Amino acid sequence: MRFAIRTFGCQMNVYDSDRIRDILMAAGMDPSGSGPGDARPGEGDGGCDVFILNTCSVREKPRQKVVSAISHARAANPKVTVVVTGCVAQLEPETLVGIGADVVVGPDHYAELPELLGLSCVQGTNALRSRTEAVRISVADEVPSFLMASPDTMSERGAISCFVPIQKGCDNWCAFCVVPAARGREVTRPEAEILEECRRFLDAGARELFLLGQNVNSVRLPGGFPGLLEQVAALPGLLRVRFTTSHPRDCSPELARAMARLPGVMPWLHLPVQSGSSRILAAMGRRYTREHYLELIDLFRGEVPGIAFTTDVIVGFPGETEADFEDTVDLVQKVGFEGMYSFMYSPRPGTRAATLPDPVPHDVAAARLNRLQGLHEEQMPRLLERYRDLSVEVLVEGPSARDPRHASGRNPQNVVVNFELADGVEVASLRGRVVSVHVLEVRTHTLFGRMNVPERA
Ligand code: SAM
Ligand code: SF4
Ligand code: F3S
Repeated sequence: MRFAIRTFGCQMNVYDSDRIRDILMAAGMDPSGSGPGDARPGEGDGGCDVFILNTCSVREKPRQKVVSAISHARAANPKVTVVVTGCVAQLEPETLVGIGADVVVGPDHYAELPELLGLSCVQGTNALRSRTEAVRISVADEVPSFLMASPDTMSERGAISCFVPIQKGCDNWCAFCVVPAARGREVTRPEAEILEECRRFLDAGARELFLLGQNVNSVRLPGGFPGLLEQVAALPGLLRVRFTTSHPRDCSPELARAMARLPGVMPWLHLPVQSGSSRILAAMGRRYTREHYLELIDLFRGEVPGIAFTTDVIVGFPGETEADFEDTVDLVQKVGFEGMYSFMYSPRPGTRAATLPDPVPHDVAAARLNRLQGLHEEQMPRLLERYRDLSVEVLVEGPSARDPRHASGRNPQNVVVNFELADGVEVASLRGRVVSVHVLEVRTHTLFGRMNVPERA
């Protein structure tokens, strides 16, 4: 019984897809399938018995991709069992069943998958229910529990960098955002569970951990988020810890001090601003102003040497005027983000913003997005110039995608660095190690350099 998983959306979905894989493998299924019509030459006969689409609803475009992937899978293989998980599953189960999904499972119910698929956990005896017995389950109001990577089935074995969820859901209800409806109330994962999963990944070879939550600074733990960081940073085997996402309202001076104090915590902060206009931020329900955001940037720059910021921006939110947009442009230029995800506002059913008057015409919003992205593209190489001619510490992940003779990893600020190896050194021997690289070139979004020859003892 072969399955394939296709993942859409954020890191939370990437982590969940790994757990789904673990759960199905533990139930005796074979992960070597490929999505209907997806097989590449040399990959066997392609196809699978169960096709899982782990979905995202944050904007209409990713949602549409899901809808067409389901229809496509159904047309390519009428016998395949189509399972839809993730945020679209939680929000629109009936629609999905209507277009051909057999099983629809919300994010708090993945442990039930073998049962929903009619799988026996005894290998060799599993059998799928027939398609007509379509099941759907998406109970939202249960107290969610967290899945846990198990040493026996862990998909991430051998990975250098692993995600560790520390929180589920979100209570912020930003006016544009569907996540609170899709992922439920904010729940903090018990600290002991977080640390246990971190240890498991480190024991399996990880050297960098990425703590995940929609608003990591609001975790309800005795030492707050800085206290958790301190404990994770002290785990044996860990070289680096990063986290995302920080909400500007909850980002505290204590966090900045913890980042400065703990050498394992990398000087990189993903701090989504969404808009540079305080008026639009208020309409978005973000509960901070442009001024507060800029003060935070100054605070973190003052405390954390060399820190890099990345951000998310939405353009074309209802009521956004040319002056509001200019405020966003100005803020982006002032801060100098070393990475920016920018999106055209996409109305989401059931959100407050979907009912707001004064929509920005599509072509105006598209032109604004274009301009903002153009400015950022221009800015990026200039910002990355600060690394040129410096030796930077790179956690090596493997060969460079462009040229397998080169190695690739990231510097502390999370910028990709590709580099030439020192004589006689193999990429494989460096995986999971931090090496010193002299930066020779800036290539738009990445850096290129040469490995410094380690000094002899
Ligand atoms: N929790 C994070 C925060 O508060 O910044 C964001 C999580 S959301 C999954 C990722 C990004 O998607 C947001 O930061 C926002 O920029 C974008 N986004 C969310 N809803 C959107 C919408 N309706 N239209 C366009 N972009 C949206
Ligand atoms: Fe969405 Fe706002 Fe929650 Fe982020 S903080 S997930 S943008 S509601
Ligand atoms: Fe993530 Fe998309 Fe859901 S961004 S939380 S998968 S709506």
